[in-house]
Amino acid sequence: MDTVEETITRAKDTSDTGPQTTRTPHVNAAQYHSLYEASISDPEAFWSKQGERLDWITPFTKVKDVSFDLGNVSIKWYEDGVLNVAANCIDRHLATRGDQTAIIWEPDDPAEAALHITYKDLHRNVCKMANVLEELGVRKGDRVILYLPMIPEAAYAMLACARIGAIHSIVFAGFSSDALGARINGCDAKLVITADEAPRGGRKTALKSNTDAALLHCKDSVKCLVVKRTGGQTTWTDRDYDYAEMALEADDTCAPVPMNAEDPLFILYTSGSTGQPKGVVHTSGGYLTYAAMTHEITFDYHDGDVFWCTADVGWVTGHSYIVYGPLANGATTIMFEGVPTYPDAGRFWAVCEKHKVNQFYTAPTAIRALMAAGNEPVERYDLSDLKVLGTVGEPINPEAWNWYNTVVGKGKCPIVDTWWQTETGGHLLTPLPGATELKPGSAQQPFFGIQPKVLDPQSGVEITTTEAEGVLVLADSWPGQMRTVWGDHERFEKTYFSDYKGYYFTGDGCRRDADGDYWITGRVDDVINVSGHRMGTAEVESALVAHARVAEAAVVGYPHDIKGQGIYAYVTLMNGETPSPELRKELETWVRTEIGPIAKPDLIQWAPGLPKTRSGKIMRRILRKIAEDDYASLGDTSTLAEPAVVDDLIENRMNRR
Ligand code: WTA
Repeated sequence: MDTVEETITRAKDTSDTGPQTTRTPHVNAAQYHSLYEASISDPEAFWSKQGERLDWITPFTKVKDVSFDLGNVSIKWYEDGVLNVAANCIDRHLATRGDQTAIIWEPDDPAEAALHITYKDLHRNVCKMANVLEELGVRKGDRVILYLPMIPEAAYAMLACARIGAIHSIVFAGFSSDALGARINGCDAKLVITADEAPRGGRKTALKSNTDAALLHCKDSVKCLVVKRTGGQTTWTDRDYDYAEMALEADDTCAPVPMNAEDPLFILYTSGSTGQPKGVVHTSGGYLTYAAMTHEITFDYHDGDVFWCTADVGWVTGHSYIVYGPLANGATTIMFEGVPTYPDAGRFWAVCEKHKVNQFYTAPTAIRALMAAGNEPVERYDLSDLKVLGTVGEPINPEAWNWYNTVVGKGKCPIVDTWWQTETGGHLLTPLPGATELKPGSAQQPFFGIQPKVLDPQSGVEITTTEAEGVLVLADSWPGQMRTVWGDHERFEKTYFSDYKGYYFTGDGCRRDADGDYWITGRVDDVINVSGHRMGTAEVESALVAHARVAEAAVVGYPHDIKGQGIYAYVTLMNGETPSPELRKELETWVRTEIGPIAKPDLIQWAPGLPKTRSGKIMRRILRKIAEDDYASLGDTSTLAEPAVVDDLIENRMNRR
């Protein structure tokens, strides 16, 4: 009989495909506990074994070399190993599953045909794209920005970069041209890959013209490769190249470039509590090992299953659980171009039925929106292939969890509430199907090798009692951890390692219950979570104050029924300016164009003054309370420079219940 370790190391089915309740999970409760212990007591041995999930050109001899010491933070995994990520996601499967579907592409419009892209097709397309990139002068280490709809070319482009050693940085297609321009310049990209238009929910976003606008503020040498998705009208300039034309000419083989395990695979910009978004850097060997392992174990993925993660590749969830994790495991993964409510609220379930989805992974905000549409759109479809359901992005409220469990999962599908971050590369806290007794709303237990600790936020001292509440930190590294902030290692150290010495600080608060299960209580910094999308309040504020008529702005989150958190902006106008409904609209549009639609304030309150300490620091705690409609517990306001402004803000607050 296999050892437990062998069972989970081998990405193979161990059972028949009988009724879902009887399928043997990769990990059961006893195995979880013994293996977790092993992963903590001897991480080198544990992760050495897990590294064997991948095909190495030169096998690693060193597993882990990590320091969390401020001033000397360094994270390396498998550092002398050589591999190619694209070869691991494609080439190594060709002999055994070349004709198996790698990607099922489901278009925005259900009347358009879905595509079934086999591993052989994927290989051909990725090689062509890789050759096109090389022809455009892209070389190992160069940065390439992807600003694309959810079309197969997005996956081809990611893997083509990985194949030739270029570093991709995806900018979510919902971001504005300003945000795009900042990211092109931020990582000094050589090339932008975009499409003419992005169809989503029956509407089209003009990606190419956004890109043109962004490129006005970038170096002339930046080239633009355009995929024609809709054939919509676009302007062509000297720097533009037509992907279809070039692909036609391009060779359909391209040798994968040997990469060191610690060579960067991608940069992904994400919001922090201060300043502009930071470029989170993930590298090759450790990231892929961790994405593959978590994909297999958390979702209990078995060979032949159809896996669907509804995220966009513009977010880390799409990187790890649409593309890299599933493809490294030789899985069939769905890529969906549309939205949950188009053409109606049954779309997710229609796709589940159509493609016989076995694992379904989405965000609480989508679940809440669909729950509001009632049970009928779910009951219209046959969901009997579903085996595991997952959520990510924010805490899930028990009401939504119960609906997901009973109406979607028919009480038969374990729900994995996965807590993780752009920075972590993959799941860190999550129940495992078949191994964990579930608790609605809790991410429950650490994944293998993960050492969560709860600290007292003020003293920074670890709370060692089982029941604890405080800030969540991690005591040691895991292979999927980010390595640095692009171009700014000091910012990396300061953001994650300076508040609590010797730990990685997550920015989240949490509670540990009497059973030792973890409950995420939300961000403790100035990051808010709108529909599962991370937004720095500072970013929205700086967009607002960039408007000529705005003197000052303070942005906080407030509870929102569907989005989880909404954006509440307190705005002080310049002297002589008068508030008006038109100006409110103008500011909303302004933020949309500065950052993107996801950053549009839900509520704008005109604030003649903001509560500040005598030293001029805005008291966000008070603004948060007012926005939450909880003005009874404002705490001590006597230290404010002008206590009276608080009364005015309460008097005029927006979301009066
Ligand atoms: C929040 C998304 C509670 C958390 C993968 C974290 C969650 C931030 C959960 C990261 C969950 C994510 N329960 N909160 N299951 N998953 N979060 O970088 O605040 O977009 O710090 O990564 O989302 O968001 P990010």
